[in-house]
Amino acid sequence: MTQDEMKRDAAWAALEFISKDSIVGVGTGSTVNHFIDALATIKDDIRGAVSSSEQSTAKLKQLGITVFDLNDISELSIYIDGADEINDQKQMIKGGGAALTREKIVAAVAGTFVCIVDSTKQVELLGRFPLPIEVIPMASSYVSRELEKLGAKPVLRQGVITDNGNQIIDAHGLQIIDPLALEQQLNNIVGVVTNGLFARRGADIVLVGSSSGTRVLK
Ligand code: A5P
Repeated sequence: MTQDEMKRDAAWAALEFISKDSIVGVGTGSTVNHFIDALATIKDDIRGAVSSSEQSTAKLKQLGITVFDLNDISELSIYIDGADEINDQKQMIKGGGAALTREKIVAAVAGTFVCIVDSTKQVELLGRFPLPIEVIPMASSYVSRELEKLGAKPVLRQGVITDNGNQIIDAHGLQIIDPLALEQQLNNIVGVVTNGLFARRGADIVLVGSSSGTRVLK
């Protein structure tokens, strides 16, 4: 089974968690693209979606799913999104697709976060995947110097501007022993908009696609 097939299986398994007449929070990435395809098959049973990126919004609309502005809804029962790494505590690194800020916002609002991954994303220790950090462009050099003080090797992601008009620094070489503390510490660097650690608001349920089927971790 290929990695993409495992992603697809996990994504389709998420349909079980969608309630009738709900608005569904939708993440970003290749796994979520499979989920949007799945969601389109039940589009007449849901009210619509809230999206975490321009990329997902375009695909949702193309498949005829109504996209709501987050500010126009008062609650969101569920959020479905992928991850770049996830540990046993359901804490994640996200942002490989540069959509981390809007993802973190939608995840914060949602009652339940269902993370869909293939088994290669499961790790004991977060940090082998470079940690994405969205920064205000004029602060990128300063933030990079602050990251070096924390032992990271910061690399500005070339040619990438986020949906919010900002830049992404990928912090390489971090061994993230205390994700909660680091998430907070990075948020305190002036110029950082969001970092890709999802520890304070981790996932509630993880669907792990593997060659032996999709496992549900609660
Ligand atoms: C997007 O910014 C990310 O947070 C994605 O959720 C993450 O990169 C997973 O992407 P794939 O599903 O493409 O592996």
